Amino acid sequence: MIKKAICLCAIGAILIAGCTSTNTNQESCSKDGDLNPNGSSELSLIMRKMAAHLAENRDALKAGKGIIAAPKEIDNLLTAKKTDEDIDKTIYDGYAKLYQQRIIEFNETADAPDSLKIKAHNNLVSTCRDCHSNFCPGPMVVINQLDIK
Ligand code: HEC
Repeated sequence: MIKKAICLCAIGAILIAGCTSTNTNQESCSKDGDLNPNGSSELSLIMRKMAAHLAENRDALKAGKGIIAAPKEIDNLLTAKKTDEDIDKTIYDGYAKLYQQRIIEFNETADAPDSLKIKAHNNLVSTCRDCHSNFCPGPMVVINQLDIK
């Protein structure tokens, strides 16, 4: 009986390990083009705000205007409900904290020369890209349009 239980546990562990390792792909986000807020996770709504923020900020900096304040929802990056709660927490949380840190650095450039504002903006875009190379690859096309060259 005990042997049987151990055996079942071992099989369970293998199955769980197998599942999480395949979760680094498209399944980690809602389908592209799903713009119904009721069907979207809390995280996907925050992501859309982050994408809109960097697009507005790119346009403002290119026009020689000041930086645009980041959406306050970024505070919830680590706790927001995801479409897929099984994605690698260590990788996700690491990049989420890095993004929050880079937002602080970005805010600090408010009175700095344009070159530093642009550098801080591009650092944010790199962090989008780095996290998305692990999860939810669809938005990469959008992300690659956010850099200021
Ligand atoms: C810490 C990792 C991480 C960072 C940093 C990150 N993303 Fe995401 N992003 C995700 C995950 C995970 C999802 C899937 C969210 C879900 O469906 O719950 C996602 C979803 C998205 C989506 C799809 C939203 C939708 O409509 O469902 C877009 C667009 C997006 N991200 C753009 C960006 C942009 C632009 C940035 C930088 C401003 C960024 N992401 C930074 C992890 C990240």
